[in-house]
Formats: sequence, C-alpha cells, structure tokens
Amino acid sequence: MDHFLYRDGILHAEDVPVPRIAASVGTPFYVYSTATLTRHYHLFKDALVGIDNLVCFAMKSNSNQAVIAHLAGLGAGMDVVSGGEYARARAAGVPGDRIVFSGVGKTENEMRAALTGGIRQFNVESEPELDRLSAVATSLGLTAPITVRVNPDVDAKTHEKIATGKSDNKFGIPISRADAVYAHAAALPGIEVVGIDVHIGSQLTDLAPFEAAYQKVRDLTLHLRAQGHAIRRLDLGGGLGIPYERSNTAPPLPTEYGALIKRVVGDLDVEVEIEPGRLISGNAGILVAGVIYVKQGEGRDFLILDAAMNDLIRPAMYGAWHDIVPVVEPEVGVDQAPYDIVGPVCETGDTFAKSRPMPPVAPGDLVAFRSAGAYGAVMASEYNTRPLIPEVMVKNEHFAVIRPRPTFDEIINRDIVPEWV
Ligand code: LLP
Repeated sequence: MDHFLYRDGILHAEDVPVPRIAASVGTPFYVYSTATLTRHYHLFKDALVGIDNLVCFAMKSNSNQAVIAHLAGLGAGMDVVSGGEYARARAAGVPGDRIVFSGVGKTENEMRAALTGGIRQFNVESEPELDRLSAVATSLGLTAPITVRVNPDVDAKTHEKIATGKSDNKFGIPISRADAVYAHAAALPGIEVVGIDVHIGSQLTDLAPFEAAYQKVRDLTLHLRAQGHAIRRLDLGGGLGIPYERSNTAPPLPTEYGALIKRVVGDLDVEVEIEPGRLISGNAGILVAGVIYVKQGEGRDFLILDAAMNDLIRPAMYGAWHDIVPVVEPEVGVDQAPYDIVGPVCETGDTFAKSRPMPPVAPGDLVAFRSAGAYGAVMASEYNTRPLIPEVMVKNEHFAVIRPRPTFDEIINRDIVPEWV
C-alpha cells in the first residue's frame, strides 16, 4: 500500500493534490511520500521483531538527503556503495556506526574516508580488497571491521542485469573459498572479522532463492565458528521485490521474508542486518509528467510526454514495467485505447510502454508513473541536455522541493571551454 490515492477524482500525494505540486514546480518531477517510507521501513522492523537487527536502507535506490534523514530519524542504518553515498549519509546526519560499505571496487580514498569518519563495517568482496583495506587501516592506526561477501551460487530468478548471486557474477568471493579467505583475513593486522555478508540480487519475487542462500550462510557461520572466527553479525543483503504491475500477483511480503530469516538463522545468536532499497523507497515515489502531444502513427498512437528515458531509465534499460495512470481519475467504465507512451529523447529506446491501454488523454494532462521512488531519480542523467528533474517530498498536507530543477545556465556553465579552442 502507498499514499498516492485518488480523492475526489484527483490523484493525491498524501493530502496534497498532485496538480498543486505540478503548478508549483512544473513537470516532470518526482514526489515522495514520507508516510510510505515510514510504513515500509516499519514493515521490515516489525517482521524482524525478536531478533537483534539493523535495517540498512540501500541508498543506491534513492539517496536524496531528505529521504535519508527521514529514514535515519526512524532508526535506519544505511548501505552505501561509494564515497559519495558515504558522504551523503554523513551529511544527512547518519552516524558512522550505522553505515555499512558495500561494493566490489572500493578505492583507498573511500576506505580512508569511511575509516576516519566512522563505519559499522566494510562488506569486502575480494582478497585484494582485504589486503588493501588492511594496509589503509594500519597506516591510519585503525582496525577495519569487516564481513566477507560470499557468492552462494544461487539463481535469484530475476532480471539478468540485477542478479548478483551466481558464480559468474562479479560479486563476492566463491563460498567454496570462504575458509581460505577468512583465515587470511584473521591474519591481517588491520582487519577485524565481524561476520558474513550475502546479497543475491534485486526485485526477487520468490523466497526460495533467499532461503537457499541464507541456508548456505547458516552452514558457513557454524563452520567458520568452528575454525575460531567470531561470526557475530550476518548481513543478509536486500532484494525483496515490489509489485510494479498492480494487476499481477504480488511478491512475498516482508513478514514472510522476516519469518524466513528467523527460521533459518534466528537461533544463531547473531545480529542480523538487511539492506532493502526498493521495498522501502519504490512505492514511496511517483514520477509526474505532462502530455505534450497525442500523435497518430501508422496503426498506433503515441502519447508523447515531457518525461523521458533520462529521467526514468528502467523501462529502456531493463524493459521494466511501471503502471502509468492519469492524475485525473478516469470515469468508471470509460473506453481505453492502446498507446505507445514515449518521451522526447531522440532514441527509439525512449519508450516507457508499448500498446498500453489508457483512458482518453489530451495534451496538457498529467500522468503519474507509479513505483518510481527507487532507481528513478538516482539513475537520471542530463542526456539531451535535459535538466535533472525536481524531487519533492510530502508529509500530510505539506510539500517541499528537496532538489530543485537546475537552470540551463547552471548546466551549461559547468562546461569549461579552454582558451585554445
Ligand atoms: N545491497 C546490495 C549489495 C545491492 O547491490 C543492492 C542492489 C541492494 C542491497 C538493494 O537491493 P533492493 O532491495 O533495492 O532490491 N537499478 C536496478 C536495481 C539495481 C540493484 C543493485 N543492487 C533497477 O532499477 O531495477
């Protein structure tokens, strides 16, 4: 459930009519609901009651500081994957001991920043990274708390571009090498082993792959403890999917996911971390666009919007589905017609949906892309010199711009033309 509902025939973001925001900031724009963020964060917290846990929001899904600050205020930790995300989390007031640092290519600068600024743990993805981290920590007179991310060779049964837990993916160390890697870690001067990390992919709609992966982590925990390693923390990653298409069957609920975690690792006397991104932020955001033209083509009609692939890349990149609804609620039983819904960017790939049934729409109308709060604004670009679109946050009857639309001058003036051109 989210907080973008029709009231009196007009789509609202919580208590704010979407057209009011459009009139104030112009289209296109993203709008996020604090109530939905809160609700989804608590779904995980409630699902994990009875087990020591920290829910670390995967900032890659939405890293606006207002979103981060809101979640941190509820008690959330953060999963960061770059020095930039680390700096953002700190700027939003997240304490270092609630930040986990993931990613296959951490640089020395990133390690140094996190070590000196404060970090809960690094999720290390390779032996060279382990050596590098030990050296950096030692040079600072510090010790780096780490988990090793293991690759359990489990098929997450999701889109190939966002599956991470198979042995041919670049992520983690093969679980078969865990023995050797943990022994190596234990011998390094700048490293303190605290646990194990796993993340098998994103937008999972089936619990079975999670169960298979977590069972392997359970076995590994017992095995490594028998070797003398202090495994006191398990980072079980993110990845629980959301219902993008309302007419489809819904993915498993956080309660079922939490029950699975408790069943598989609940008796291990460990602190559990999870790193959900999409399930917290996805349905907490919509993208609102204006219709520029309705164009008749050969055998198909096009709805040309002012939003494009640079604003929301998921359909072009993964063939992803987003429900697209008119902001003015269509009358019950109104005839629908199929449209290809596209943006103005000069690529055929700039297509949001093909033959999508829509009620009658006209130039100037507003439409909303649902479930756009995760991997929307964060993946946007200025392709075609289209400014990054504003982000707005609502809370009850209040709304605020949390990132303004840059002007053309701001964009253009970032370029430097050398005098010798
Ligand atoms: N932890 C790690 C180590 C990750 O790599 C990811 C996502 C997450 C947690 C959060 O996963 P989530 O709960 O959001 O599924 N751009 C793609 C998704 C890429 C996900 C990358 N890693 C999309 O738009 O579908």
